[in-house]
Amino acid sequence: MSTFVELAEKRRSVYALGTDSKYTQKDIEARIREVVKQVPTAFNSQTTRIVVLFDEASTKFWDHIYDVQKNVLEGGMVDWMNGVVTGAKNGIGTVLFFEDRDAVKEMPAQGAREEAYKQNNNANAQYGVWLALAEMNLGASLQHFNVGYEQGFDKATKEMFNLPASYEMIAQMPFGSIEQELSEKEHIDTDVQVKVFS
Ligand SMILES: Cc1cc2nc3c(=O)[nH]c(=O)nc-3n(C[C@H](O)[C@H](O)[C@H](O)COP(=O)(O)O)c2cc1C
Repeated sequence: MSTFVELAEKRRSVYALGTDSKYTQKDIEARIREVVKQVPTAFNSQTTRIVVLFDEASTKFWDHIYDVQKNVLEGGMVDWMNGVVTGAKNGIGTVLFFEDRDAVKEMPAQGAREEAYKQNNNANAQYGVWLALAEMNLGASLQHFNVGYEQGFDKATKEMFNLPASYEMIAQMPFGSIEQELSEKEHIDTDVQVKVFS
């Protein structure tokens, strides 16, 4: 049993993914459901919507991302995207993070604050799910392909999985077994990040 801080240290961005896990799709689904249920949201608004893709559903999603992004990205970014997409397709699945704009509108907040709360609600879910996956020894990364509700960039994804038009795609998290060495991460001085007074 690891402590929370050990779990936080264990969570990293992992791009080379595989399918070597003792956890079933049902186990993973159950953990994601539980953690998302407990995520704090502004005014307990619970605006976040999660879509978990396994097998062909995940492959279909990443094929779509590749088809769109290969025409959008330039130069080395295509190679980078290709690496992410290949890693994702080699993994176990993908978590898609949405915000339901109809639910967001119900929050007693407008303008910049509404936008901030929407993003914060979703970020809490992203981190919670990322930690839950790490606890199961699963690697994951956070991606932002085809994001853009106003421009309709996420429309095809919603149509692919028959999701409501009010869903706004915020991020994607491909996950699977960890098939790479993780490099040391640089940390800024904690005194810059944290100040303490008494
Ligand atoms: C708001 C946010 C956006 C991010 N966007 C991306 C992204 O689009 N693609 C990506 O590969 N990683 C993305 N990341 C992952 C960070 O690059 C990564 O967490 C950071 O470099 C620290 O590395 P670690 O995750 O291994 O601790 C994002 C992370 C955050 C918090």
